[in-house]
Amino acid sequence: MSDEKLSFNKDGKFIIMQVSDPQDLQFVRHTMVRMLNKVYDRISPDLVVFTGDNILGNHLRDARFGSKHVIHTKKEEYERMKTAIAHICNPLEKRNIPFTMIYGNHDDVNEITKEEQADIYRSYKMCVGLDNPDKSVDVDTFDLPIYSRDLSRKLFNLWMIDSAWYDKKEDKCHEAVKKETVDWYIKRSDELKAENSGKPLPSLMFQHIPMPESVRLLVDCEKDDPLAVPFFRKGEKERYVKLDPKKADGFLCEPITPCEENYGQLEALKKQGDVKAVVYGHDHTNNFIGEHDGITIIQSSAASFRCYGNHLRGVRIFELDENNPEEFKTYFLTYADICGTSIPSRIAYIWDADGCIKQKSALIAGTAAVAVGIGAAAYFIRRKYNG
Ligand SMILES: [Fe+2]
Repeated sequence: MSDEKLSFNKDGKFIIMQVSDPQDLQFVRHTMVRMLNKVYDRISPDLVVFTGDNILGNHLRDARFGSKHVIHTKKEEYERMKTAIAHICNPLEKRNIPFTMIYGNHDDVNEITKEEQADIYRSYKMCVGLDNPDKSVDVDTFDLPIYSRDLSRKLFNLWMIDSAWYDKKEDKCHEAVKKETVDWYIKRSDELKAENSGKPLPSLMFQHIPMPESVRLLVDCEKDDPLAVPFFRKGEKERYVKLDPKKADGFLCEPITPCEENYGQLEALKKQGDVKAVVYGHDHTNNFIGEHDGITIIQSSAASFRCYGNHLRGVRIFELDENNPEEFKTYFLTYADICGTSIPSRIAYIWDADGCIKQKSALIAGTAAVAVGIGAAAYFIRRKYNG
C-alpha cells in the first residue's frame, strides 16, 4: 500500500477513472480486463476508483459453470477472492497507477471479513486510502485528499463511503449509509474546512448504493412512453417511470434501487456544502447526471461482463483542474467508445458479455455452418481432382 500523497499532475489536472461493478470471479471475463487496460493506456488516469461490487463475492464457492458449491473452506474461498481481486489490481500495479476502492452489496457476502478483504487490496503497492483511523466506521469509509502540485495544500477531497454490509449471522446484506458514517463525514468535513481557512474543501463523494432521495429524479409516465421503465414488483400495481427531464439527463434502463434506510446523508451534504457530486454504481444499466435539492447525483453503469448489463458497459472519467477545483468535468466511455465497433471487437463482446445468449448462439451456429461449408467444399474438390 502506498502512503504517497495524491496531487495534481504536471498539466494541472487530476484524472479519476471510475470503474463500477467489475463484479467478476477467479475465472475472469477477459474482454472486460482488455477494455479497462485500453483506457488505462489511453487516458493514464491519476487515480482509479473501484466503486463497489468489485468482485462477485457471493459466488466464490461456485463451480466454473452453474452455482454448485465446489469449495468448502474459508481458506479456499480466500484464495479465490485473492485471484478475483488480482484480475482488477494487477494491471494497475503493472502500470504504476494508484487505485482505491469501496465495497458494494456483493463483495463481502462470504466468510471473509471486510477487514481481511481490505488487507488483500492493501497488499498492492499502488493501493491508496483504506486508512481511516476512526474505527466507528467501516474500513471502506475514508477520505482521500488531492494536493496541489507542490504538495503544499489540499485542494480537493474524495469521500469514499460504505453503503452495504453483510450480516453473516442473518445471512442478509444491509444497504444503507449508517448514522455513524454520516456523523463521521460531518466531523471530518468540519476538520477539512477548518484547515482550508474556513471554506468547505471541494470534493466528490463515491458510494455504491444510491441515497434514498435519488428516486426523486424520476417522474411517473405512461407505459407506452419510449423512455418508460417498469417500477413495480410482481403483484404490485403497475407503475412506469423515467428520468425527470427537468432534473436529470442520461439513460434510465432500470429502476434506481437506493439504500433501504436513511440516516440524513442528503441533509448533511446540504449543510456541509463541500460535495460537488455524489457518484454511484450499483444499477448496472443506468447512466445519468441529475440534480436534486441542490446536490448533483451521478450514476455510472457497470463494467462487468459477467453480470447483467447492456451497451452502456464502460467507465466514467472525471477531470479536475488545479486552477478551478470548484468545478469538474465528467464523461462516460462505453465499450464501443473504447474498443471500437469492428467485427472482432463485436465478437469479443458477444462472446464474453452476459445477456448476449441469442447473438452468441447465432455466432456459434454461423461459425459451425461456415466450417461445415468449408469442409464440404474441400471434400468435393478433393474428390473431383483425385478422380
Ligand atoms: Fe450492487
